[in-house]
Amino acid sequence: MAKKKDGTGSAGQPSLWEEARAARLREQIRYHDHRYYVLDEPEISDAGYDRLMRELIQLEEEHPELVTPDSPTQRVGGAPLEAFETVIHPAPLLSLANAYDAGELRAFDRRIKKALETEDVQYVAELKIDGLTIALTYEDGVLVQGATRGDGERGEDVTKNVRTIKSVPLRLASGEPLNLAVRGEAYIRREDFARLNEARVAKGEPLFANPRNAAAGALRQLDPRVTAERPLDAYLYGLLYCRERRFATQWESLAFLKEQGFPVNPHSRFCEDIEAVIAYCDEWGEKREELPHEIDGIVVKLNSLARQEALGATGKSPRGMIAYKFPAEQVTTTVEDIVVNVGRTGAVTPLAILHPVEVAGSTVSRVGLHNEDYIKEKDIRIGDTVVIQKAGDVIPEVVRVIPEKRTGREREFALPKHCPECGADVVRPEGEAAARCVGIGCPAQLRESLIHFASRGAMDIEGFGPAIISGLIERGYVKDPADLYSLTMDQFLSLERMGEKLATKLLAAIQASKDAPLERVLFALGIRHVGEGVARTLAGHFGAIDALMAADQETLQQIPEVGEKIAESIVSFFAEPQNRRVVERLRAAGVNMKAAEQPSPGERPLAGKTFVITGTLSGFTREEAESSVLRLGGRVSGGVSQKTDYVVVGEKPGSKYDKARELGVPILDEAGFVEILKR
Ligand code: IVH
Repeated sequence: MAKKKDGTGSAGQPSLWEEARAARLREQIRYHDHRYYVLDEPEISDAGYDRLMRELIQLEEEHPELVTPDSPTQRVGGAPLEAFETVIHPAPLLSLANAYDAGELRAFDRRIKKALETEDVQYVAELKIDGLTIALTYEDGVLVQGATRGDGERGEDVTKNVRTIKSVPLRLASGEPLNLAVRGEAYIRREDFARLNEARVAKGEPLFANPRNAAAGALRQLDPRVTAERPLDAYLYGLLYCRERRFATQWESLAFLKEQGFPVNPHSRFCEDIEAVIAYCDEWGEKREELPHEIDGIVVKLNSLARQEALGATGKSPRGMIAYKFPAEQVTTTVEDIVVNVGRTGAVTPLAILHPVEVAGSTVSRVGLHNEDYIKEKDIRIGDTVVIQKAGDVIPEVVRVIPEKRTGREREFALPKHCPECGADVVRPEGEAAARCVGIGCPAQLRESLIHFASRGAMDIEGFGPAIISGLIERGYVKDPADLYSLTMDQFLSLERMGEKLATKLLAAIQASKDAPLERVLFALGIRHVGEGVARTLAGHFGAIDALMAADQETLQQIPEVGEKIAESIVSFFAEPQNRRVVERLRAAGVNMKAAEQPSPGERPLAGKTFVITGTLSGFTREEAESSVLRLGGRVSGGVSQKTDYVVVGEKPGSKYDKARELGVPILDEAGFVEILKR
């Protein structure tokens, strides 16, 4: 039905000719979009295409009643949204179990044959596109909804954003008024990603870590005009339902999707048996870098849809499908040096400086070596050639040394006897893996502990970055956290690149931090083993710092969540006169030492719920995600068990994800997590 747009004047009723012309132009543009964006075989020049588009825009401007929701002019624009509406998926969008080698694929094949009681089983192997799930709904052949997966049950309505993806048909190519839903993946090509990031550098905007994050950012943009500027693309791979048609196999349904104008990945392959699937996995494991987009594995699907249905699902994964995950990418490089880092607790951690290499999408030039024993065990020497990979595809690690590459000039690493920052002794207490700098006034420890003190979940002193903190330490203005509260304007102004405006802001931020509730103060103090969760428990239990300082180990251990290690650490922290003095000076400066009013149960909607977070989220740092849960009364745990209520899964999740699936623990993706936080 024609729709009237606001604000544009109408030059009277469109003539029949104009109506027919607009319909014809829409049809032609749709045809050329498909040739260009889906088939990659354009038939007309850009100028020719622009002429058609301009004519349609002009007609629609003159006669807004000619605008249809599936008109190609409707891909761009639309006002920004306040928030996304929630979409309840007609049937849950499941996820996949993983296989990591040929043996596991053969075991999957055996399970299927056994369950179906037949040896006659064929598969479709598809590239596992590394992007985000989208679900598109068409009514009477017209795109009416685009949604994210969310937690599988509920997603977000991103229709306006999906419309901007040029390869997604706004109307089915056959012109048939079909009612169907398809599942696919929105992604960004490597080349487009590089260009997008270059533009962000030029504008001084933060870079996206990888194409998947960039795609997530684009799809979950509240302003569709911004999405339209981002180079999102899509592949569709699953027919969720089609009211008017039935298909016997996955292979046929892919052909149908292609016919209807959907972008379908051209490399999908029909496989006679599991050995053909394994050959496909090996082939793409070798060739994946040649693809214009990233893939993180292969999806193997039983070809018969009736059999897929008969097999059903375990937990959240259909039994008739599996994702083969490629082994982590490994590269070799050389260790140019091994240096040490001094942390806030004085821990002296070795770090390998590498000849920079590209691995899994980013340049790696340093990698943590944990401790002396780790280096000994792996026999890593300065000058060695090493194999590195990204653990869980995120944090780089040394896999092994290649001893054959040694020339004899390599040097063994020894922990320095003295702290490189303050010269104090470095000691390694018996039975402990970590070595520590014992220097009380060590500037490195001080710097790290002040960075922690001022950080978000702690005192949240905005603008207090490492450079400012280092400047204050170098000039001797700050020797412990309490000194922050007596800093003066003149002291700030003596720092490099510091103006009055910034100094005023920093002083105000310091003042404001005095009102932080006790749990944040406790966390800020940096007591070993007292993270945000424990700090909250302690504050809730004791109500004020004096009661906590007076508690003995036994009292502390009676609190659920506080074990021997934590209790011991708290007692020894407050037994130290230096630490008590800092607390007293903080109190004298006006820092609050009382717990926040306990939120009412209504304000703690996640009370009693335990979350585990794995992988990288695009909209939160790990700390932000954790404190969001804690703020709403939930608990964050490091390991998955039957007691876990939710596992929040970000990009490149670790083994906790697999464990969650094994145990059938509810899994939330980022959108689902956001939903829960909003409840
Ligand atoms: S089929 C029941 N096919 O991989 C799950 N998924 O969990 C049906 N993906 O969330 C998914 N390419 O976002 C399927 N050719 C493909 C895929 C694919 C990428 C993603 C999808 C899904 C995840 C696996």
